[in-house]
Amino acid sequence: MCGIVAYLGKKQAYPILLKGLKRLEYRGYDSAGVALIDETLTVYKKKGKVQDLETFIGERSTAGSIGIGHTRWATHGKPDDINAHPHISSNGRLVLVHNGIIENYGLLKEALKKTGHSFETQTDTEVLVNLIEEIQKTDNLALEEAVRVALTKVRGAYAIVVMDKNDPDKLVAARKSSPLVVGVGDDGFYLASDGTPIVEHTRKVVYLKDEEIVTLTRSGEMDIKTISNEIQHPFIQELEFEIETIEKGGYDYFMLKEINEQPATIRECLRGRLNADEGWIKLSGVDNLVNKLLNADRFIIVGCGTSWHAGLIAEYLFEDFVRIPVEVEYASEFRYRNPIISERDIVFAISQSGETADTLAALELAKEKGASIYGVVNVVGSSIARITDEGSYIHAGPEIGVASTKAFTGQVTLLTMIALTLANKKGTISNAYYRQLITELEQIPNKVQQVLEKNAQIEFIAKEIMDAPNALYLGRGYNFPVALEGALKLKEISYIHAEGYPAAEMKHGPIALIDENMPVIVMATNRSAYEKIISNIQEVKARGGRVIAIISEGDKEIKEIADYTIEIPETEEPLTPLISVIPLQLLSYHIALMRGCNVDQPRNLAKSVTVE
Ligand code: AGP
Ligand code: GLU
Repeated sequence: MCGIVAYLGKKQAYPILLKGLKRLEYRGYDSAGVALIDETLTVYKKKGKVQDLETFIGERSTAGSIGIGHTRWATHGKPDDINAHPHISSNGRLVLVHNGIIENYGLLKEALKKTGHSFETQTDTEVLVNLIEEIQKTDNLALEEAVRVALTKVRGAYAIVVMDKNDPDKLVAARKSSPLVVGVGDDGFYLASDGTPIVEHTRKVVYLKDEEIVTLTRSGEMDIKTISNEIQHPFIQELEFEIETIEKGGYDYFMLKEINEQPATIRECLRGRLNADEGWIKLSGVDNLVNKLLNADRFIIVGCGTSWHAGLIAEYLFEDFVRIPVEVEYASEFRYRNPIISERDIVFAISQSGETADTLAALELAKEKGASIYGVVNVVGSSIARITDEGSYIHAGPEIGVASTKAFTGQVTLLTMIALTLANKKGTISNAYYRQLITELEQIPNKVQQVLEKNAQIEFIAKEIMDAPNALYLGRGYNFPVALEGALKLKEISYIHAEGYPAAEMKHGPIALIDENMPVIVMATNRSAYEKIISNIQEVKARGGRVIAIISEGDKEIKEIADYTIEIPETEEPLTPLISVIPLQLLSYHIALMRGCNVDQPRNLAKSVTVE
């Protein structure tokens, strides 16, 4: 939910912090700040984007080979200069950046006030840095020990990095529920919320685990302990992605780049896992859990936002092919409603970032109740990936745009392969149909490319509806979750209120909304409900609504009645979402752009919701 970068070593810290924060800005951009030590402690922090901070700093002193930086997504205290991180302790000695929420900050703040601490900000973070100061002072502890003791008193989520201006050769960091990665370079240590600020400096990383504290020194020591003071041995891994995958590559926005990457990212997801000629799918995660999967009483799918939409598609796939009952749950609801979970349930966790707090908490609950967890995740080494029993990475590469696109099609591709694998093993679909679907799945990237080539036509339609105050997305069957996803894309980047609905539900209320100001985007590719979709379009037209229909290539009937149509290549109905979502992604991108919205960093949002 925010971005943290830190450096300690031979080089100047500021340029590393600044570039690193820009790479992490997709995680939150309410304010940004840096702290540097070069004999003295210097802190710069500003409301707004990292660029605003850079402009503010200008020619001011940025010397120092140790520093910490933060780009914020506010949870406590409005986005302004005062509440921006880094935060300094009352005696001006400690400085800290934090990602997460200190849930018991109120009680801690009251106790600290009684010992004479004053507070300048409304944040929970300032309480933490003063708690560490209080413990360090009272018990005369080394910084790392003061941090450890303080964290035993804290409830909530955190990724923190702390510096002591009296000890400029040490960084102390810790995490619980929010991510933190240590980069082990030849020229020093790096810390960041994910690998993107680190990969250009070193590929050697240590993913801090929950409730671990790391102490990094200028002389090159890296010591890791748990909050309960047990020594841990660092496990150094290799960052897998290339630097160019986190650059824009000539596109104006990361979102447009990622939309256009989808033929390649779907191929990457299939690579080595699906062979149409020989007729097989191989998923090691499924093989390792196959007996539990085939004999499960129920599949429970948890996720948030777009990942939840991918889960809805998986419900249709799993029940249609594997004949196992499926429940799709908003993770945030599932975790609090005292759900019934048994050891015979399999929980599928769907998450691009692998750090979504609600999804993580839902999985911890499921694990406690004995369910096995299967992860469908994009970010390698992420918290969700690490707590699952088995799983498969979607291999979509870093997704920087806040609006999820290539991760969605990657999730759906993987879930389709899982459903086909299990159905084939269970014999719930014929071998002929299995091979037919595998062959068609291998063709999907080419068909996605064909839709991407309709960008100009989609841009034209975007212009026609860009000023609409509201929009309705309708779909049936496999296209119903796509309608929900299209509505989410539009509302989260263009700020137009949009709703997705099962097409047949129109008659039960939403049709009252229809007039000439309400564009209705209808997913009309279904063969199985084709006549009914035509009736739904007629109902909207009869009330003066404007209809944009996503239709199968060559469909002439709907072309006659809809105001605008976008033709997409035919495919097997269960594979439709991988293609029918593409025009909706482009439509929302163009409308947002025409409305002057920041496509990659929409207001109020962040890429990874690592707080509740
Ligand atoms: C999707 O465009 C949004 N950015 C958001 O709904 C996102 O899908 C949701 O926060 C879940 O994130 P995750 O996949 O990283 O868990
Ligand atoms: N809770 C802290 C704040 O509101 C940190 C938020 C974040 O993760 O960016 O400042």
